[in-house]
Amino acid sequence: MKDHFTRFRQRRVDEATRARHRETTLAVRDFIWPVFIVEGRSVRQPIASMPDVYRFSADTLLDELVPLTGRGLASVLLFGVPATKGIEQAWAADGIVQQAVPLIKKAVPALEVITDVCLCSFTADGHCHVGDNDKTCELLARIAVSHATAGADIVAPSDMMDGRVWFIKQALTAHGFAATQIMSYAAKYASGYYGPFRDAADCAPKHGDRKTYQMDPANAIEAMDEIAADIAEGAHSVIVKPALAYLDIIAHARQKFSCPIVAYNVSGEYAMLKHAVASGAMKSDVIRETLLGIKRAGAHRIISYFTPDIVRQR
Ligand code: PBG
Ligand code: ZN
Repeated sequence: MKDHFTRFRQRRVDEATRARHRETTLAVRDFIWPVFIVEGRSVRQPIASMPDVYRFSADTLLDELVPLTGRGLASVLLFGVPATKGIEQAWAADGIVQQAVPLIKKAVPALEVITDVCLCSFTADGHCHVGDNDKTCELLARIAVSHATAGADIVAPSDMMDGRVWFIKQALTAHGFAATQIMSYAAKYASGYYGPFRDAADCAPKHGDRKTYQMDPANAIEAMDEIAADIAEGAHSVIVKPALAYLDIIAHARQKFSCPIVAYNVSGEYAMLKHAVASGAMKSDVIRETLLGIKRAGAHRIISYFTPDIVRQR
């Protein structure tokens, strides 16, 4: 006799059956590992607000990257953190990122290298701009060209100035780097979840906040305009950031645009889960559950400080 209701539980009887019904899976290749690089040698400096995250010098970073790439790590996102302020270092041929990229490319050629393009770790006031929007865009384009010259596969502007993708695209093309891709932080919100990162990258604004350039957390429709504009200007993929409080933005962008949607599982989201697990309030499987949620929402790739854990767990 036929039931008059659906027996959903038949799909859940054991792991093999659940696996057959599974709609979403996390793959190591989905992950991009954000790393902080400093000058010097043998540096492995813990970051107080981000448990198990370090600032590395290029040599110690390679010690991490070689085994992780062997286990499937596909991509890194580099943030250069200079010892002293001064914006010229941001595009200097012997800058931190510019020196690290060729070393990484030599040691682990298969690893995709993405570089953060911004000024906030270099400016005295910790802002992502130098006052004028368009002047800032010109400087960002110089940074992008210097990263491409060093061998970066992808440049990722995180500043939220208007038109910076267009400026960067023009400059890359003019310097013979038309093949270098642009992953733009298109929908980047003015978020409190960046707190720990600002410690790590020493880029907390000394005055005011970033609300005049980063998006208002209340806006969803505007995010679609930001993303459309960046794609029109030449972005190959776009970032939604943060991820967890903005899953609706990820899901909407996934439906509306065909380019890869990248979610940034930011420092505050990382710290939140790390502390919750460390305190015993939750078990560490909440980490995979959370990352799965970001992917299920529609992210093609996830930038996450949990990446080494995911790679090692495989
Ligand atoms: C700065 C930048 C920030 C992050 C990436 N690039 C912080 C900010 O905008 O204040 C945040 C990343 C994170 O929190 O993990 N351009
Ligand atoms: Zn910045």
